[in-house]
Amino acid sequence: MKKTVAVIGSSGAIGNSISENLVNNDLIDVVYKFSRTNVNKDTERIKNITIDIEKEDSIKSAVEKLPKDTKFDLIFVATGILHNDDDIFPEKSIKDINAERLKKVLLVNTIGPTLVGKYFIPFLKKDIRSTFAFLSARVGSITDNNLGGWYSYRSSKTALNQIIKNFSIEIKRSNPNAIFVGLQPGTVKSFLSKPFEKNVKADKLFTPDYSAKKLLKVIDNLKSKDSGKIFAWDGEEILP
Ligand SMILES: NC(=O)c1ccc[n+]([C@@H]2O[C@H](COP(=O)([O-])OP(=O)(O)OC[C@H]3O[C@@H](n4cnc5c(N)ncnc54)[C@H](OP(=O)(O)O)[C@@H]3O)[C@@H](O)[C@H]2O)c1
Repeated sequence: MKKTVAVIGSSGAIGNSISENLVNNDLIDVVYKFSRTNVNKDTERIKNITIDIEKEDSIKSAVEKLPKDTKFDLIFVATGILHNDDDIFPEKSIKDINAERLKKVLLVNTIGPTLVGKYFIPFLKKDIRSTFAFLSARVGSITDNNLGGWYSYRSSKTALNQIIKNFSIEIKRSNPNAIFVGLQPGTVKSFLSKPFEKNVKADKLFTPDYSAKKLLKVIDNLKSKDSGKIFAWDGEEILP
C-alpha cells in the first residue's frame, strides 16, 4: 500500500528538502506539508495546510483540516529556532540569559513539537510500522556538552529529547508499531545555521538535500527497539 506522510515546518531548509524527497518517492502517495507561510497550490499528491506551532489552537485546527480517515506512515517535525531578526541569539555566557529569549526558544523548540505530538499521534498508522521523527540537535545531549553556552537552544533540545522518550513509553502500549525518534541533521546550510557556517569546514556543511536523504535512510532502517532514542544523520546513536 502506498504511504501517506506529513512534514511540519515544510518551509524550512531541511523541511523543504525532506518534503521534496518524499514527493519524488514513488512509494509515497500524498505528502501533507504544514507551515506558517502557506503559499503553494495543492496538487493531487501535495496538500498544504497552515500551522503555527506556537499556538495550540492553530495545531488543533490544522489536524481538523485532514480528511477523516487520514493515517500517516511518517510524521516529520522540521521546525525550530536558534536566532531571529529580533532579540533571539544563542547565549555566549550567563549574562546573556534573558527570560523572554528562554521563553521564545522553549516555545518553538520544545512546547510546539510537544503539542504537535499531542494532536498528531492519533493519526499514526497502527496496523504497520509508523514513525514520528523530530529534528533535535547534538547540543541537546548532556553527555556531549563539553563547550557550554547556548543555554536556551541546548536546553530546549534536551527537553525535546525527554518528551520524545516519554511519547515512546506511553504510546508503546496503544500502538506498538509506532517509533518515536529525535534526529540530528548534521550542520546544514540554512537560515538557522547561517551565522555559524564560517566556523564549519566546507565538507562538513551539508546541503539540505544531502541531509534529508541521509535522515530518510536512517528512518527507513529504524527498528522498534530504537523508539525514544536520538540518531545522527549517519545513523550514530547520540546519548542523552
Ligand atoms: N541547520 C542546522 O545545521 C541544524 C543543526 C542541528 C539541528 N537543526 C535543527 O533542524 C531543524 C530545522 O532547521 P533548519 O536548518 O531547516 O532551519 P530553518 O531553515 O530556519 O527552518 C526552520 C523552520 O521552522 C519553522 N518555524 C519556526 N517557528 C515556527 C512556528 N511558530 N510555527 C511553524 N513553523 C515554525 C520555520 O517556518 P517559517 O518559514 O514560517 O519561519 C521553518 O520552516 C531545527 O529544529 C534545528 O534546530 C538544524
